[in-house]
Amino acid sequence: MTDLRPDSAPAIGPGAHLLVTGGAGFIGSELVRQLLARRDGTRVTVLDKLTYAGNRANLAEVEADAGQAARFTFVQGDIADPSIVGPLAAEADAIINVAAETHVDRSILDPEAFLRTGVIGVHVLLEAVRGETERARRGGREHAPRFLQVSTDEVYGEVSEGRSTETDALAPRSPYAAAKASGELLVSAYAITFGLDTVVTRGSNTYGPHQHPEKLIPLFTTNALGGHPLPMYGDGMQIRDWLHVSDHAAGIDFVLRHGVTGEAYNVAGGTELPNREVIGRLLAATGRDWSLVRTVPDRPGHDRRYAMDGSKLAALGWRPRVDFADGLPATVAWYRDNPDWIASAKSGDWDAYYARQYGDRLAAGRAVDRTA
Ligand SMILES: NC(=O)c1ccc[n+]([C@@H]2O[C@H](COP(=O)([O-])OP(=O)(O)OC[C@H]3O[C@@H](n4cnc5c(N)ncnc54)[C@H](O)[C@@H]3O)[C@@H](O)[C@H]2O)c1
Repeated sequence: MTDLRPDSAPAIGPGAHLLVTGGAGFIGSELVRQLLARRDGTRVTVLDKLTYAGNRANLAEVEADAGQAARFTFVQGDIADPSIVGPLAAEADAIINVAAETHVDRSILDPEAFLRTGVIGVHVLLEAVRGETERARRGGREHAPRFLQVSTDEVYGEVSEGRSTETDALAPRSPYAAAKASGELLVSAYAITFGLDTVVTRGSNTYGPHQHPEKLIPLFTTNALGGHPLPMYGDGMQIRDWLHVSDHAAGIDFVLRHGVTGEAYNVAGGTELPNREVIGRLLAATGRDWSLVRTVPDRPGHDRRYAMDGSKLAALGWRPRVDFADGLPATVAWYRDNPDWIASAKSGDWDAYYARQYGDRLAAGRAVDRTA
């Protein structure tokens, strides 16, 4: 079968116009901040549906800076809507798809939204890139747009030994991870079949400022700051590899510029820790103790360990910079200093979600045996 993919991708350089989907979320907004802080003429359009996880306040910093705001456009809309995506793709040198439903627990409560955005939404974006690629082939635009799909280490499934490399089979075990893996499979199928210029990043568990408080580190930090119980799943011995959000965004930007067409890259943090250890460090940083922690019934199908080998990206010259020992206390300090942001993130359906997710669990919870 003929492989239509280009031998080399067009350079994404100063003055490029980038479409960032999901740019009002945690990682997307950090990417937008980094892209505009380059002050090299890069223009950024964000397409974001503003789900409960999207927050316009995450982009306040760039919108308050006249130089950056002049190169920034915000569009509220759904990546699964071709009438919105088409015209935006026509103007973009690259599309970075950061948009997704991202919380594993919510994917267990209500998987459908995950498939709509993670599968249908990715398909709509790929169709737009396909149309633009064909337009470039006909001479209607200079280059076809590059498409970067932001994926996750969770597509590899549970890794009991060793570390996942990019050629390992995808073996997702939650609806969230299955939607992400499905999106990736569509990307590689479109790259091969239609000759699109695509790259994929698979990032580790990410932490830092502006993360929605449903996720482990901000949930436990904000609960600890407020003196509320910390619901620890099971024995707390699930191992995750932690990556600071500034490193995750920098890794995405690096792959956008240096990744080889058709390839996937692990963006690993290099800090593997059991949740129990992370919780202990959070308690120290918030001045609380283990009396706040309750062990609660575990998430069904909870993967015990994710671990990725980051050597492929390291060979291209990229490494994470933020040490967890510095990044975690700085993150706790950010949440302590931003109560208004926390209040806005814990508005809307937050109380109903929290009661549904943790009400019965906390009622069945027990104090933690710290000697175990
Ligand atoms: N947070 C992590 O630990 C982590 C780790 C690895 C990979 N990832 C991936 O990184 C990406 C970003 O994760 P995050 O933690 O920043 O998520 P997030 O939940 O903070 O943000 C997601 C953003 O996408 C937007 N969005 C959702 N559905 C949309 C749709 N249909 N159309 C347009 N916008 C939509 C939301 O409004 C929100 O602004 C996701 O693709 C996720 O799978 C996250």
